[in-house]
Amino acid sequence: MFKDLLRYPIIQAPMAGGASTPKLAAAVSNAGGLGFLAAGYKTAAEMKEEINQTRRLTEYPFGVNVFVPGNEVIDESAVAAYRAKIENAAKSVGATIGNGVVDDDDWVNKLTVLKEVKVDLVSFTFGCPESSVLRELQSTGALIAVTVTNLEEAKKAAGAGADVLCVQGIEAGGHRASFENRSEDDHGLLELIRMIKNELELPIIAAGGLMHGKDIAAVLAAGAMAAQLGTAFLRCPESGASPVHKAALNDSRFVQTTVTRAFSGRRARGLVNEFITENGHAAPAAYPHVHHMTKQMRKAAGEKGNPELMALWAGQGHKLSREKPASELVELLMEELKGERFAGMEIRELSMNESAPMHLLLLADPSRDMVEDYLAKGICFIAERAKQFLGVYVLLQKGTDTMEIKNIAVDENHHGKGIGRHLMEHAIGQAREQGYKKLEIGTGNSSIGQLALYQKCGFRIVGVDRDFFTKHYSEVFYENGIQCRDMIRLSRSI
Ligand SMILES: Cc1cc2nc3c(=O)[nH]c(=O)nc-3n(C[C@H](O)[C@H](O)[C@H](O)COP(=O)(O)O)c2cc1C
Repeated sequence: MFKDLLRYPIIQAPMAGGASTPKLAAAVSNAGGLGFLAAGYKTAAEMKEEINQTRRLTEYPFGVNVFVPGNEVIDESAVAAYRAKIENAAKSVGATIGNGVVDDDDWVNKLTVLKEVKVDLVSFTFGCPESSVLRELQSTGALIAVTVTNLEEAKKAAGAGADVLCVQGIEAGGHRASFENRSEDDHGLLELIRMIKNELELPIIAAGGLMHGKDIAAVLAAGAMAAQLGTAFLRCPESGASPVHKAALNDSRFVQTTVTRAFSGRRARGLVNEFITENGHAAPAAYPHVHHMTKQMRKAAGEKGNPELMALWAGQGHKLSREKPASELVELLMEELKGERFAGMEIRELSMNESAPMHLLLLADPSRDMVEDYLAKGICFIAERAKQFLGVYVLLQKGTDTMEIKNIAVDENHHGKGIGRHLMEHAIGQAREQGYKKLEIGTGNSSIGQLALYQKCGFRIVGVDRDFFTKHYSEVFYENGIQCRDMIRLSRSI
């Protein structure tokens, strides 16, 4: 499950063109986030080497992002006209305009390597591969994320069998991940998360303009499971972005970002500089042709310290970026996130008219009516301190791994003396006997010690059943390193 890859709901975005390095990905993963390598523009062999390097630097999971090749028909005359228009700019830094060639970014070989080296998470950008490609990678144990920019793409990715959707809002730095180069169906991130969440059940990674823990809290509240930050990590010392690019992000010369095809022939968000101002309006939709044409010029400009002819990819929040080692940035983001009382948790009333979306709840002091009602609705729960009907404790788990333990006999003497622990030990024993490796539980008024114990036993804590617990525990959870992402407040007035 995607959730299992996350210790913190913070992902460092894959950033092709040099910014994503094994050092950056490993530093983020080691700090509790999820690092990403960007395979775009690299050969399969280079990608493999980076995966190996990253594995030497971290034992934790990280992702690898791959560009999906397109087969767009381009307007050759528009490309030729653009070449003529930008030739002088290239000359000004001693470069020439390259050939507008098409390539598939070593697609087939990259897939072969990814199957061979078995990574935890593969994300795709610029399209959604065939279902068979996703299935083959999934059969190696990889989870698949597909980057989407609108609802239609999200539905296609879900239909193809993606495990996770990386939802990219219009605020995002770098290339628009749209499946079609010509698509201009862009959306603000929060709106897009809500729209997709309303229709699809896949976990969501939110990307675009997220710079602070408060921003992460906002996308988690909107329904995302994790936040993916690109620009925020660009100024880290571990980032391979050029010094000119890093400096420009915080330079008063650059006040605006825009979405442009000027550098690559595909829409991308970057700082507005002279090259974009002069050529953006004339750039054709021709990717990767224009990318290859401007490559030498961009490189030469970088070497000469000239930001005006470089692609300074940046999200709308670039002015809020902070120059810090990646591990410190992850910690700081997490501190800021913690400051948001309910951040990272989905809190809502569960009405008795809906079937339970959560895996399990632990009820404190339920009435018999309540228990019977929940049972009738097929809601999963474990009842604690149900004095009235000792011996009718029920533990059910929904989902594909359905499990049911009924009528756990509890010795009355246990009551009030760690009965929850007794129950859980019993449940764990039963689960093991039945071959379950993992249970998901929710919990009510258990002690922190119990929560820690459950988590140690491989349980995921998903719910808390009382209002005041949500407030109190959201902070205590974090302090004790207990991951509780989906808080569910049960309605008592049934
Ligand atoms: C320099 C740069 C390079 C990027 N390269 C990639 C890439 O190779 N693959 C990808 O899926 N997204 C890429 N992105 C987009 C990010 O994945 C992410 O959507 C974006 O950074 C989020 O917006 P933010 O920059 O405002 O945080 C890139 C972004 C930047 C800034």
